[in-house]
Amino acid sequence: MTELIILKLGGSVITKKKEDKAEINEEVLQRIASEISGAMKERKVSLMVVHGAGPFGHVPAREYGLDTGLRDNRQVKGFSITHHSMERLNLLVIDALRKSGLNAIEFQPSSVGILKNEKLVHFPTRALEGILRIGLIPVAYGDVLMDEEKGVGILSGDHLVPYLAKKLNASRVIIATDVAGIFDSDPKGNRNARLIPRINSENIGALSIGNSTTTDVTGGMQRKVRELLNLEIESEIISALEPGLVKKALLGERNIGTVIRK
Ligand SMILES: Nc1ncnc2c1ncn2[C@@H]1O[C@H](COP(=O)(O)OP(=O)(O)OP(=O)(O)O)[C@@H](O)[C@H]1O
Ligand SMILES: [Mg+2]
Repeated sequence: MTELIILKLGGSVITKKKEDKAEINEEVLQRIASEISGAMKERKVSLMVVHGAGPFGHVPAREYGLDTGLRDNRQVKGFSITHHSMERLNLLVIDALRKSGLNAIEFQPSSVGILKNEKLVHFPTRALEGILRIGLIPVAYGDVLMDEEKGVGILSGDHLVPYLAKKLNASRVIIATDVAGIFDSDPKGNRNARLIPRINSENIGALSIGNSTTTDVTGGMQRKVRELLNLEIESEIISALEPGLVKKALLGERNIGTVIRK
């Protein structure tokens, strides 16, 4: 199989997360789609996209307490509402990719994945492998899933990405978000925060990595880094708000954000 790259598009980039509005950042999303398309023309790789939720997912998930397990019937309605909202976002992402000439298709996590205490324990990938092999671009997302312990739970895109990277033997993971990488403290709260070019198990302890300044039920930046650090595969957190960086990263350029490797 050709080399596989997994690209996560953060909800902070593709939606109006800062304003807490379940709307897409249309211009930014379309620009990113054309960067992906440009890179795919120049380099032969397989690509899987996973996108985050922004307010499309985090807001209804919080409203119905889906991140704290199943306790009452009202949450069943919340499951349907939250999933539907994520499907709407997924369709908009796929529309943008297809407009740029990419053969993208939805890959719905809740129809195949199972969590146990918020950890992904089952996610068959045979279909996914076939889809990638013929050159399609599967687009998955953070979703509401069955949880064997808690009834229901949230599968964060940040949890799905390292899981799939390992299982599908990806060569590289790129996390595109709304900041330039990982800083020694949250750059949104501290103007003097310094960008950390590399994170490994030695320097992680000295950094103050927060959650998210916006509604985020899945642990924000802190969880992202923790999960990526456990992965044997190199990952890099880059800004998708800076034009050109997504394309550069897909073309194999490194050290344009924060590189994470054990
Ligand atoms: N030390 C840090 N370095 C960089 N960003 C940090 C740090 N601590 C906290 N953050 C925050 O993490 C945010 C990104 O995480 P967040 O989960 O909001 O984005 P996302 O994953 O792109 O969105 P989504 O979860 O909707 O997919 C940044 O906007 C920043 O404010
Ligand atoms: Mg997040």
